[in-house]
Amino acid sequence: MTGKVTVPDIRARKRSRGAGPIVMITAYDAPFARVVDRADVDIILVGDSLAELVLGLEDTLQVGIEDLAYHVGAVARARPRALLVGDMPWLTYHLEASDTVRNAAILVRAGAHAVKLEGGRRRVPAVRAITDAEIPVMGHLGLTPQSIHAMGGYKVQGREATAAGDLRRDAEALAAAGCFAVVLEGVPDLLAERVTAELDIPTIGIGAGPACDGQVIVLHDLLGLSESKAPKFVRRYAELGSVGTEAVRAWAADVRAGRYPSEAESYHASAELREALGPSS
Ligand code: KIV
Repeated sequence: MTGKVTVPDIRARKRSRGAGPIVMITAYDAPFARVVDRADVDIILVGDSLAELVLGLEDTLQVGIEDLAYHVGAVARARPRALLVGDMPWLTYHLEASDTVRNAAILVRAGAHAVKLEGGRRRVPAVRAITDAEIPVMGHLGLTPQSIHAMGGYKVQGREATAAGDLRRDAEALAAAGCFAVVLEGVPDLLAERVTAELDIPTIGIGAGPACDGQVIVLHDLLGLSESKAPKFVRRYAELGSVGTEAVRAWAADVRAGRYPSEAESYHASAELREALGPSS
């Protein structure tokens, strides 16, 4: 595939209009940005899952805008073809509109093409403020990890009729406020199907069944690099954690046995230097 993926490209990708599914994945640094971009994904998300997966923190509430900007910058320097979306951390879009826009701009200056934020109708003013500053916004509904305490843990959302109705109205409000796409996380498949049919913008699911306009997954879950118990929607395609440990174990054994480095892996002294250094003592 050639040509950079743009926000209007993604905005138009409704499967009901014949488009293929949107493929979105997280990445947090330049080498993995290259790995996923070479796999022709459409969107790279520098998610606030950075907190647990890369920085070893307890939850996403522990990262700030500077952490996100630093990692957005690293991904941007890999110059991916994919659209680059930066996650807005908790409390960077909940206060004054001017702070919200300034924080979104920090991610754009670091290299993001768009930002993502969590929440429904209560976030409409934030979405309007950011889009008024010409920064595209992706919404995120359902199991929103920044609401862990309000939700009482990471639980599937929208299981009851009232909650499902609320989520549908939240999705409509985000679309009306100008979001170009919305992530649906941890919701029943039928609810995601209904929301996808109702919205003019694409839905991107994670634990939301197959009917969404796209799917997103956390890279470290897919590659077997995350430590915590994975939710049931995670399909592991590799076990890089154990592959990496085995590689380091083999190298350590070679060092300990004097097999590393070999002659071929060493820089050799010239005859002149050999003479200048003299015989070994
Ligand atoms: O931070 C993240 O990785 C996310 C995805 C789960 C959508 O928000």
